[in-house]
Amino acid sequence: TFYKRKEMQRLGGENGLDGLMIANFLKSVCLPGHVDDLFPFFLRHAKQIFPMLDCMDDLRKISDLRLPPNWYPEARAIQRRIVFHAGPTNSGKTHHAIQRYLAAKSGIYCGPLKLLAHEIFQKSNDASVPCDLVTGEERVLVDQEGRQAAHVACTVEMCSVTTPYEVAVIDEIQMIKDPARGWAWTRALLGLSAEEVHICGEAAAIDLVTELMYSTGEEVEVRNYKRLTPITVLDYALESLDNLRPGDCIVCFNKNDIYSLSRQIEARGLECAVIYGSLPPGTKLTQAKKFNDPDDPCKILVATDAIGMGLNLSIKRIIFNSLIKPSINEKGEKEMDAITTSQALQISGRAGRFSSVFKEGEVTTMHRDDLVLLKEILNRSVPPIETAGLHPTAEQIEMFAYHLPDATLSNLIDIFVSLSQVDGLYFVCNVDDFKFLADMIQHIPLNLRVRYVFCTAPINKKQPFVCTSLLKFARQFSRNEPLTFDWLCRHTNWPLVPPKNIKDLVHLEAVHDVFDLYLWLSYRFMDMFPDASLVRDIQKELDNIIQIGVRNITTLIRASQATSVSGAIAVPDDFPLQRTEVNDRMLNLEDLPAANQGQFSSATKVPGQKRIRGSKALGYRPAEVKSNMKSQRQGSLAAKLVREGLLTQEMLKQLEREWQVHHNNNGNFPTGKRDDQNGSKGTGNKK
Ligand SMILES: Nc1ncnc2c1ncn2[C@@H]1O[C@H](COP(=O)(O)OP(=O)(O)OP(=O)(O)O)[C@@H](O)[C@H]1O
Ligand SMILES: [Mg+2]
Repeated sequence: TFYKRKEMQRLGGENGLDGLMIANFLKSVCLPGHVDDLFPFFLRHAKQIFPMLDCMDDLRKISDLRLPPNWYPEARAIQRRIVFHAGPTNSGKTHHAIQRYLAAKSGIYCGPLKLLAHEIFQKSNDASVPCDLVTGEERVLVDQEGRQAAHVACTVEMCSVTTPYEVAVIDEIQMIKDPARGWAWTRALLGLSAEEVHICGEAAAIDLVTELMYSTGEEVEVRNYKRLTPITVLDYALESLDNLRPGDCIVCFNKNDIYSLSRQIEARGLECAVIYGSLPPGTKLTQAKKFNDPDDPCKILVATDAIGMGLNLSIKRIIFNSLIKPSINEKGEKEMDAITTSQALQISGRAGRFSSVFKEGEVTTMHRDDLVLLKEILNRSVPPIETAGLHPTAEQIEMFAYHLPDATLSNLIDIFVSLSQVDGLYFVCNVDDFKFLADMIQHIPLNLRVRYVFCTAPINKKQPFVCTSLLKFARQFSRNEPLTFDWLCRHTNWPLVPPKNIKDLVHLEAVHDVFDLYLWLSYRFMDMFPDASLVRDIQKELDNIIQIGVRNITTLIRASQATSVSGAIAVPDDFPLQRTEVNDRMLNLEDLPAANQGQFSSATKVPGQKRIRGSKALGYRPAEVKSNMKSQRQGSLAAKLVREGLLTQEMLKQLEREWQVHHNNNGNFPTGKRDDQNGSKGTGNKK
């Protein structure tokens, strides 16, 4: 109405805006009748919305991600030879690619894990091919005078797309579809400037890689491999730790299970090695070496799926303690789900490695009831990978910020993602962690480039001490005060002593991550983080201290149980299993496809739809009852009985059901015997 339009003009004027323009805009985009309702909202946010509308075309252009091959001029300037080494686990894919890498004048290996980069670094130097190591937090130059070697083994995020190489190896290419890290494989695949690019991984990625290379005008030569050693899914479960044999590896998806199992194993007089994601790399390597060493009495490994990709360990038999793994869904919620076929294949594939003393692998579960599900998972067919991850670059976000100077970094990322256009072969990676950090440091004055780098720091947002450290680092940085060694020691209370209980161990792991964060930032802002070499020294010391803790893990568990009334181990329920850095993150392998056909000898095909079930293996709490168990874990009689093995989860559930019925019947148990027992006492029994 005329009146309203005048009113809108007046209100707009009061806010320094053109009220009529806003009304007209709303009229053009809203249903009739909604303009009045929306006007006040638009007026409030007009300063943000209208500049964006003004430059919408520019923003669309900047966030146009339809031609990623064009982002890498060095790679586009040469014609690369692309070789895809495809096959199941333990088929020699990486081996063949590495042979070519070692023979070349120069080469780069890009792997998904620090441990794998380390394995190739070692292998190359052992073969008298000098090779450097580059991860987010570490640069090892083998040359005494600090010159770069012609070969480098790195974590995939760290590969250079501007340095020319004769041979590049990209390992575990199926990770290109990882929701968080996929972009790093896409970047390596499109951007490595090498005469030959050797890609290793699951056959499910062949079609996508071929299509991506079609867009760069490069042909893909596919070499298929078969498993080098047989692997069998056993028809029986382990059932009891008394049945353990040398070369067994128990895989858990819960850190508390690791602690609990290692204690039970050592109580049987057996030594065991422990590997989980949040241990420092040095500790992981030492534990792996100990387990691999034929002369070491330690013949049992308890691990999370941190061992699940590409690694060569002396494992004869993989025993899944559980098939349920926590994961974070797209909404950021925690979900408990059965592991995917790809995950199961990757983990199983650690058994019976060609290079180990065990030439035949075996796979089974801890509990008999899980065996059918394991076979079902392993026999599911795996769909081909269809899309590759992409991530907005710092330059793109900077250009956005130029057009939208008032928006926060987190908003810029949101707007970028929602406006971005991608080709059907790509998807934009999950940016939640980035946004989490952006929001956390939003109030600290930093220029955009610095802010962007801080937000790409590969830390685990579930570790409060690491998050607050990042915040403190950022604050100190914004004051332009260099973060010195002394400052860091004060912040972390260094020097630290060996852990007395599991809680201490968990804290030491977090401090190790804070040192990692310092080193990671020191490679990006050398002036502000000047004491990298001192920090590296104390980090090594800390790694040793943690190793002492892990060696004495049984003692630590006992100490933790003694200090806790309930006997529960004092580890927060949501404490991360994974190491925090991106390039060593325990991977969120959300349904990664795999070529599983024909990998297992006596696998029984069990058709049927996906089922989600818990495991009842030792020390394991089924997913469905986990939340209810929280209070119990903190000290109930039921939890104590379960821990002591006097009560199983099934018995507990049965009791719960009976109590429920009992309660509903005003205290009378419905079953014969109990009815008889209670009958004469009437309904007086209260829960
Ligand atoms: N032809 C060969 N000669 C000697 N050793 C080999 C050969 N092929 C493979 N190996 C060794 O066998 C082990 C398994 O090979 P490799 O790691 O290449 O398998 P992969 O297919 O890459 O497995 P994954 O999928 O688990 O990464 C390695 O230790 C490797 O060095
Ligand atoms: Mg491999």
